[in-house]
Amino acid sequence: MRKPIIGGNWKMNRGTPNETIEMLESLVPQVEGIDTVDIVIATPFTALTKAYEIIKDTNIKLGAQNMYFEDKGAFTGEISPQFLKEIGVEYVILGHSERRDIFKESDTLINKKLKKALSISLKPIVCIGEHLEEREAGKTMHKIEYQINETFKDLSKEEMRKIIIAYEPIWAIGTGKTATPEQAEEIHIFIRNLLSQKFDKETADSIRIQYGGSIKPINAEDLFNKKNIDGGLVGGASLQSDSLFQIILAADKSIK
Ligand code: PGA
Repeated sequence: MRKPIIGGNWKMNRGTPNETIEMLESLVPQVEGIDTVDIVIATPFTALTKAYEIIKDTNIKLGAQNMYFEDKGAFTGEISPQFLKEIGVEYVILGHSERRDIFKESDTLINKKLKKALSISLKPIVCIGEHLEEREAGKTMHKIEYQINETFKDLSKEEMRKIIIAYEPIWAIGTGKTATPEQAEEIHIFIRNLLSQKFDKETADSIRIQYGGSIKPINAEDLFNKKNIDGGLVGGASLQSDSLFQIILAADKSIK
C-alpha cells in the first residue's frame, strides 16, 4: 500500500512573508489530523524559513523547488542542499520541466542533484514528462524511458525506493488541460513496468508516482482513484488553501 503524497509547488507565484502566512495559517487547521496523505509545500527559497515557522509542528512538510549538488563554494546564485536541510526542508523537487526547458537543466545535472539529495537524506520529487509534440508524434513512451534511464542512472534499489516520481505531461502544466485519468494511468503503469525491469517488482511497487498538470478539486478524485496514481504535484491550485485542501481530501478519499 503506497501512501498518497500531495505536493504544492508555488513556483514563483507566492513567496512574500505575508502571502506565506496567509496561505499556511489557513491550511494548517484545515488539514489537521489527516495522516493518510503526506502533504508537502514547496515555496520559493525566500519563504522557506517563514513557512517552516508556521508548519514545523504540523503534518505539513517543507519542500524546496530546486537545489545545487555541491555543499559550498563559488556558485553564485545557487542554493546548497545543506542550507536547505538546516532550515527544515525535507523534500526537494528536482528536474521540473520548467527547470529543464527554461533553465536548460540536463538529465546529467538532475542525476547529480538527485544523488546529492539522497546522500544527505533530502527526499527527492523527480519530475518527468513529455511535450505536446512528442505526444502527438507517438514518442511519449520513448521520452519517458529515456528520462528514467538518464535521470536515475547508477542508483541502487535502496536509493530508488526513497524517490517520489512526478509524471507531469508538459502540455498539461498550467494550461488547464489535464491528462484524462486513463491517459495518466497508462503512463504510470508504463513507468512502473520500466522500474520493475530496471530494478525489481518490489522496488517498482513501492515507489510513489504522482501525477501533475492542471490538477484541480474537480478532477483530483478521478485521477487519484486510479491504482497507479499516488497523489499529485499541484501548481496553480496549491496557491489557495481551500483548493489545495479539497485536493488533499480527494487523495484521502481515494484510499478509503
Ligand atoms: P499546474 O502545475 O498544477 O499549475 O499545472 C503543476 C506543476 O508544474 O507541478
